[in-house]
Amino acid sequence: MNSTFEKDNNASGPIGIFDSGYGGLTVFKEIHRILPQYNYIYLGDNARVPYGTRSFQTVYEYTKECVFKLFDLGCNLVVLACNTASAKALRTIQQQDLPPGKKILGVIRPTTESIDQYTKTNKIGILATQGTVLSDSYKIEINKFHPKIEVFQHACPFWVPLVENNEIDSLGAHYFVKNDIEQLLTQSKEIDTIVLACTHYPLLLPIIEKYTPQGIQILAQGELVALSLADYLQRHLEIEKKCSRGGDLQFYTTDDPRAFEEKAEIFFGQKVHAANIKV
Ligand code: DGL
Repeated sequence: MNSTFEKDNNASGPIGIFDSGYGGLTVFKEIHRILPQYNYIYLGDNARVPYGTRSFQTVYEYTKECVFKLFDLGCNLVVLACNTASAKALRTIQQQDLPPGKKILGVIRPTTESIDQYTKTNKIGILATQGTVLSDSYKIEINKFHPKIEVFQHACPFWVPLVENNEIDSLGAHYFVKNDIEQLLTQSKEIDTIVLACTHYPLLLPIIEKYTPQGIQILAQGELVALSLADYLQRHLEIEKKCSRGGDLQFYTTDDPRAFEEKAEIFFGQKVHAANIKV
């Protein structure tokens, strides 16, 4: 993979945010709210979404291509704002592929580290893509930090297509969301916290809230990830120095930029200008 970033290892650059599609915008929105001083590039691989039903090897290859594209665009630090990519590609890219001076972070660690602050029953429900559930990443990570917490998982394969197709209040969305929440909750009556462990899911929040019994809290990851990134940058000043400042936002999609702009405005909360990019 030929990259131009090797030419100047010390130049500062925007922070890269990557997702398979629109879901990462829910995380980016919070990162931008909490850290508005930096420049950012968002890359959505809308042409190849969903990642959640694909093999380990495919998610790894797609994610690596997008991360290297962000490095080529000048980013030194890339956040995988995608649980599926964090579960299936983050560790391998970190161990095998990272060029000197480049960093990538995921969304699973920030979520699992602080999960004990939310549950009283020590029973957590995870709603995620098939890929994330099958990887067992949440169980493994939560067990590492908080061995007393029991984790119940349920995969929701229809939720990402509903979001990507802007069907977030359709009859189908109501049917699948109700059904999937019921299936998760049949695993234990004591679940008191549900983690939306896919960055697309907060876009279905009004419906998710409607079908979740009172007393169960629903946790989206955006703010947790943003706070964790702020903390990371404070503790790693050598990386913080390489994040350029100015508040400039760029958006790229591997699919149609006009369609991206329309949906991004809804999901990100402000008008954006997007361009197509080949990875
Ligand atoms: N938004 C992604 C996640 O957090 C995955 C969606 C998909 O491509 O299936 O898992």
